[in-house]
Amino acid sequence: MRQLGVIGGTGIHELAGLAGTASHSPDTPFGAPSAPLQEGLFGDCRVFFLQRHGSPAVVPPHLVNYRANLWALKSLGVTDVVAINAVGGIASSMQPGVLVIPDQVIDYTWGRAHTFDDGSDGQLRHIDFTEPYHRELRLALAAAADCAAISCQTSAVHGVTQGPRLETAAEIRRLAADGCDVVGMTGMPEAALARELELAYASVCMVVNPAAGLGDEPISLAVMGEILQREAGVVGLLLRTLVAQRYSA
Ligand code: HPA
Repeated sequence: MRQLGVIGGTGIHELAGLAGTASHSPDTPFGAPSAPLQEGLFGDCRVFFLQRHGSPAVVPPHLVNYRANLWALKSLGVTDVVAINAVGGIASSMQPGVLVIPDQVIDYTWGRAHTFDDGSDGQLRHIDFTEPYHRELRLALAAAADCAAISCQTSAVHGVTQGPRLETAAEIRRLAADGCDVVGMTGMPEAALARELELAYASVCMVVNPAAGLGDEPISLAVMGEILQREAGVVGLLLRTLVAQRYSA
């Protein structure tokens, strides 16, 4: 049986409509996850929720314990993970307020604990990451968006930078030349670690600002916050629809 877990990003501190039933703080070989994992029900369907940045949300992207978070989700029986990520828009179609289900990623992060593989079991592993997001879960998200009349882009390259600072205009020009459509700070190593654990993993990105150098105004946290607040309800509807379509008995 498939079990959904949701990793909330900036601005998503809970899942709207999730009736909480329990809280879990599993220990992992990598330490504690960012926050207790909330178990709850969407209708009659069990869902786990984890806030990536902690509760209160103060853990910056480069210090998130991605390994503990994914290990903890897996230890509770999660098979499928939908990650929510706030991003800046690079491609002209990626304007603030747009929802995106990316299908590719380029990793610009460094110095993060990015693998479970330390060679200690005597095996050499190279996971296939040609398609970094789980195709079936992506398509299920796209179908749920369609069903709920939520407009979203279903193909995009997600560039992931180290943060916590935002990018320079020149860095964004470079990302654009590399083919990135959106830029965020938390998509990696999360997606690769999920693949190592054989979790089905997909991301829903919320565009909250034009990337550096592309907007008329300086990037403002206040404006990002307003868009996040507005879009959080839409993401909640998308997830409820996904659960009804893919996870309900
Ligand atoms: N860059 C990187 N991460 C982000 C951005 C951005 O412009 N907006 C939200 N997360």
